[in-house]
Amino acid sequence: MLVNEAIAFAEQELKRSNNLNSRLDSEILVSHLINIPRESIYSKLKENLPSNKTEELQKLVSRRVKKEPIAYILNNKEFWSTNFYVDRSVLIPRPETEVLIDLILSKINNKNNYLNILDIGTGSGCILISLLKELARAKGIGVDKSSKAIAIAKKNSISQQVDNRALFKNVNLEEIKFDKKFDLIVSNPPYLPDVSLKNLNSDIKLYEPKIALQGGVQGVDFLYKIIDLASKILKINSLLALEIGDNQFHILAKYLNKNRFKILDKYILINKQVRCLLATKL
Ligand SMILES: C[S@@+](CC[C@H](N)C(=O)[O-])C[C@H]1O[C@@H](n2cnc3c(N)ncnc32)[C@H](O)[C@@H]1O
Repeated sequence: MLVNEAIAFAEQELKRSNNLNSRLDSEILVSHLINIPRESIYSKLKENLPSNKTEELQKLVSRRVKKEPIAYILNNKEFWSTNFYVDRSVLIPRPETEVLIDLILSKINNKNNYLNILDIGTGSGCILISLLKELARAKGIGVDKSSKAIAIAKKNSISQQVDNRALFKNVNLEEIKFDKKFDLIVSNPPYLPDVSLKNLNSDIKLYEPKIALQGGVQGVDFLYKIIDLASKILKINSLLALEIGDNQFHILAKYLNKNRFKILDKYILINKQVRCLLATKL
């Protein structure tokens, strides 16, 4: 079987499963199989697929036919121009979350400051690790209730060579206790309202961890708790950066105001929903 035949086979199978990105996904899977970057696949179309790879190709395609996200099949997701190891124990990092990093960096004038960062619900560690790579003297703690997520975040911090400045702790948000105060608290918590979980795409519903998604009746349970915690352990004039769900901005803005936070910036999606906000403690 030639490489282009392998792609055609995968594309046909994926089309049959109503995959709307069947060509792209096929190219990604075949590139992964023969261990080349996807951009190089066009120069290999007429080469033979090694015969021992045919069975593996079928396995990869059948996982995607069952709606498993490409990131879990490849054990890789790019975030902030870095490759992160992911598996089904962690949420797949999303492009929207990169905006949190942007918002934060835009407000830090001196990138060489000694900052103490806390990342709540760290998952793959993508937020904390990306920040530590940008802020050469910063240190950070990433916490998560999932011990499997913590193991993955540690692994990623080692491959990204920031493990000497990152500490990952398997702890429930409700039990977090720190003597010291932080210069920055960041979180992309579970924020989906319970009712909306039923309507998620199969890729998400069947494969991504519920613990990373489920935010209570209105989806704001964790966000309230994080704001409560931040009012105790964030230094005055320091930053709180949050990713939030649809229709949550106004209710959270009120709560932040009540807790003496001022909103500095926000990121609004095309559908007019605020997805990320940055606040400072007065
Ligand atoms: C939406 S995911 C975010 C993961 C990662 N920070 C990212 O942006 O890709 C939320 C994370 O919060 C964690 N989590 C859920 N409940 C928690 C709790 N009670 N205490 C601490 N972490 C929790 C989940 O395990 C999950 O990793």
